[in-house]
Amino acid sequence: MDDSRRIVAVEEVPSDGTLLFTVRSGFDKEEAILTRLDDGSVVAFKNYCQHWTDVRLDKGSGALVRNDEIVCQKHGATFERDTGYCNFGPCEGAVLDALEVAVEGDAVYLADEEYEFEHLGPSGEHDLSTGSRIDFTGS
Ligand code: FES
Repeated sequence: MDDSRRIVAVEEVPSDGTLLFTVRSGFDKEEAILTRLDDGSVVAFKNYCQHWTDVRLDKGSGALVRNDEIVCQKHGATFERDTGYCNFGPCEGAVLDALEVAVEGDAVYLADEEYEFEHLGPSGEHDLSTGSRIDFTGS
């Protein structure tokens, strides 16, 4: 796989949390999260809740993972870590948007043709101090 698609070493992907990274599609940047499953495979989802899509699951230091579920800390929805399926909460039955990733050798690559890998960490389009989007209108 193309080196520009290498996200991170597999061993750096947590199994008890998530790792935040940023992808790009055209001019649009989007955040996504990686988590490592018990069988050593790695899955990726877009970094937003299915209840309120402007709520990020991982605000930069890893999403809360409990009982093999990713927990949205806004209203407590839980998503199965392997499938992204919401098994409890206000968006029960919804599924996190997945991104295709592949493990090759000791690294995780972005396999989703729709996106380019941008960088590890947040997209920079959020105000980290409040956890909300930067409001350019000043209101
Ligand atoms: S925004 Fe995630 S559960 Fe409501």
